[in-house]
Amino acid sequence: MAEKKATNITWHEGSVRKQDREKLLGQKGVILWFTGLSGSGKSTLAHHVEKQLAQRGNLTYVLDGDNIRHGLNKNLGFTPEDREENIRRIGEVAKLFSESGVITMAAFISPYKRDRDRIRNLVDEGEFIEIYVKVPLEVAEERDPKGLYEKARSGEIDNFTGIDAPYEEPENPEIMIDTGSTDLEESVETVVTYLEKEKII
Ligand SMILES: Nc1ncnc2c1ncn2[C@@H]1O[C@H](COP(=O)(O)OP(=O)(O)O)[C@@H](O)[C@H]1O
Ligand SMILES: [Mg+2]
Repeated sequence: MAEKKATNITWHEGSVRKQDREKLLGQKGVILWFTGLSGSGKSTLAHHVEKQLAQRGNLTYVLDGDNIRHGLNKNLGFTPEDREENIRRIGEVAKLFSESGVITMAAFISPYKRDRDRIRNLVDEGEFIEIYVKVPLEVAEERDPKGLYEKARSGEIDNFTGIDAPYEEPENPEIMIDTGSTDLEESVETVVTYLEKEKII
């Protein structure tokens, strides 16, 4: 599905590079990749981190699950192949945003390790920051902010991560946050502190 089809295409190198844009913005372009079960807190966390960064004068953009499925990826479903293509496209879009110097946040379940590692390998060392938003399944199911677990349990939704589709945990995430035992404020602080420590902001 993702193979290259066009030939006779040439990469055009611009004279303004990533590091020039980063200098303009006073920050590094990176991808903060939030992964975890539905209801783990990826969207909540990403949007709160974004708010905090905006207050400090940093330019950010959040790519969020359902929103992308309304547009760019509206022709994809939830089979393993479609999930793979979904994440591949998002990875490429995140790379473009990061290339523009923006602190790019992606909040997708992204259950397959291979798909996440592929995006890590698309960009430079240190540019892909994997944030494992960990939560016990029972807690996510208890929260059920969109009522999806209930639908998955009743059979109304198939291929639901954690119920009848797998979630492969990150092995070496740059950041791990257990939102079952860490409150939102502290979770946001963990991410922002990491960005400071790594001199991204
Ligand atoms: N520490 C926390 N971090 C993030 N969300 C939390 C936390 N504690 C409780 N929540 C709640 O959990 C739910 C997470 O939902 P959401 O962010 O939509 O998850 P996801 O995007 O991972 O599917 C929200 O209702 C949020 O208020
Ligand atoms: Mg979400």
